Amino acid sequence: MRTFNAEMSKSYRVYIGRKILRTTATHLKKLGFSSRAVIITNKTVNKLYGSILEENLNKNGFEILLIEVPDTERSKSMGTALRIYDELISHRIEREAPVIAFGGGVVGDLAGYVSATFLRGLPLIHLPTTLLAQVDSCIGGKTAVNYLNFKNIVGVFKNPEIVLIDPDLLQTLPEREIKNGVAEIIKYGVIGDPSLFSLLEKRMDDIFESDPLFLEEIIYRCCKIKIDIVEKDERETGLRRILNYGHTIGHAIETASNFAISHGEAVAIGMCAAGRIAEKLGIFNDVERQERLIKIAGFSINLSNFDVEDLIRIMHFDKKVKNSKINFVLPRRIGDVVIRDNIPKKILLETIKGLR
Ligand SMILES: NC(=O)c1ccc[n+]([C@@H]2O[C@H](COP(=O)([O-])OP(=O)(O)OC[C@H]3O[C@@H](n4cnc5c(N)ncnc54)[C@H](O)[C@@H]3O)[C@@H](O)[C@H]2O)c1
Repeated sequence: MRTFNAEMSKSYRVYIGRKILRTTATHLKKLGFSSRAVIITNKTVNKLYGSILEENLNKNGFEILLIEVPDTERSKSMGTALRIYDELISHRIEREAPVIAFGGGVVGDLAGYVSATFLRGLPLIHLPTTLLAQVDSCIGGKTAVNYLNFKNIVGVFKNPEIVLIDPDLLQTLPEREIKNGVAEIIKYGVIGDPSLFSLLEKRMDDIFESDPLFLEEIIYRCCKIKIDIVEKDERETGLRRILNYGHTIGHAIETASNFAISHGEAVAIGMCAAGRIAEKLGIFNDVERQERLIKIAGFSINLSNFDVEDLIRIMHFDKKVKNSKINFVLPRRIGDVVIRDNIPKKILLETIKGLR
C-alpha cells in the first residue's frame, strides 16, 4: 500500500493498494461519515464490483443510494446530471452524504460535477476503476460534462475528500482500455520522469499482464507526478498545461475520427507528432526512442486516412487555443518539455503528413 497527501486548496489523501475497495467503509468512517452514502457508477462496473462495495458499506452501517448511469461517454451530460439531481432530491440526500465516484473517467467526471453542484457541494470520494482514471482523471480536481458537441465544456474544480485506488480492479479491464491508460503513463515519463520512461521500456508487458504490484508502483509514480504539477498550478494558468502533452493533435484526431480512434491511440499519435515537431525545431533528439516505446505499447502511428487541413481546423477550436494560437507541449528531452505557441504551419503540415 502506498499513500501520499495532495496539498491543494483543499488537501486530501491518496491511497493506492490491493483490495482497498474492501476497506472503503473504514476510510469513510475515519473521515467522519457514518450514515448515508451515494454511489454513482455504471452497469459494467456495478456488475463486476458493485456487490463488494455495497456489502462493505452495508456491513458497516451505511445506507446506500446507488445510481447507475449508462456505460457511455454520452452519460457525461447535463441530462444525466439532471436525472441524478432528481434521484438525490427524491431520496432526500443531505449535505453530509458523500458521493462515491465508482468507475472510469466518465463516471468520475460526471459524479464529480454532480457532487460539486448539488446543494452547493456534497463530499466527493474517488474510487477509480480504469487505468486512465487511476493514473490521471481521479487526481487534480477537474470535473465536467459535455454539452452540444463540446467535450468537457461545462465543469468546475472539485477536490475529493479522499482517493482510493485499487489496482486489483484492473484485472477485468479490456486491453483497449489498458492502452488508453498506458498512453497517459508514457506521457508522464516524457513530461517529467525519465526513470519511469526507462522502466516502461523494460517492463511494458507487466502492465498488459496486469501485474498488480507493478501496477501499484506505476500508478503511484504517475499520481505523484500529476500532483506535483497540479499543486503548483491548480487552476491551469501555466505549468499544468504540460499535462496536455500529446493532446493538442490527439484531441483533433479523436474528433476527426468521430471517436473511432480511442483517446489513448490519439494521444500516442499526438506525442509522436509533438516529438517530430520538436526535432524539426532542433530541440529534441530522442524521437526514435519515444516512438519505439509507443510501438512497444502496441500503438500504430498512422494518419494517412486523415485530411491534414481538417485536423488543423479542429485544433483551432480546442480549449488549448489562446488568442488564436495553438499551444503545443514539445519535448526537449525524455523527462522535460516546453510549451510553444508559435509553431510554423509548414512544420505542422509536414509533420502530420509524415505520420504514416
Ligand atoms: N478529470 C480529468 O482530469 C480527466 C482526465 C483525463 C480524462 N478524463 C475523462 O475521462 C473519460 C475517459 O475515462 P476512461 O478512459 O476511464 O473511460 P470510461 O470511464 O468510459 O471507461 C472505459 C470502459 O471501461 C469500463 N470499465 C471501467 N472499469 C472497469 C473495470 N474495472 N473492469 C472492466 N471494465 C471497466 C467502463 O464501463 C467503460 O466501458 C473521458 O470522458 C475524459 O474526458 C478526465
